[in-house]
Amino acid sequence: MILKILHYPDERLREPGKAVATVTPEIRTLIDDMAETMYAAPGVGLAATQVGEPYQLFLVDIAAEDEPSDLRVFINPEITDKQGKTTFEEGCLSFPGAAEDIERAERIKVRALDRDGKPFELEAEGLLAIAIQHENDHLQGVLMIDRLGPLKKRLLHRKMVKRSER
Ligand code: NI
Repeated sequence: MILKILHYPDERLREPGKAVATVTPEIRTLIDDMAETMYAAPGVGLAATQVGEPYQLFLVDIAAEDEPSDLRVFINPEITDKQGKTTFEEGCLSFPGAAEDIERAERIKVRALDRDGKPFELEAEGLLAIAIQHENDHLQGVLMIDRLGPLKKRLLHRKMVKRSER
């Protein structure tokens, strides 16, 4: 089922996700629906908080269009290490049409549970590391606009508010 993606400035995007106590069949259904929603958008990542489900859960698939899919599920994620700095032009399904340069760590380590509730640890760099940091922000109620300087922040805010009033 395709879920409705919340758009900035929807206040629900600010609500932090709760830890997932158990990976229940309901959580697995949510994961499947989120994957369908992400691929339909299309996007490279989607956090549960973006579809109005305040859980510590996000998905990432950075495979190019001509590559096989590479869906990764992160439940109760924790970024345990960050190294270096990199800037990349990011988009976000909650900010339709926006593309902004954002600085993030270049390499990270992340710990999480997979869709079977099994713990894993991953070292990531490049686009995967960027996508994980972007989605992990969503789980704290932090959005890409928060990572911009004051002028760009004001411009993007105005653009999104205008768009939401159409
Ligand atoms: Ni986003």
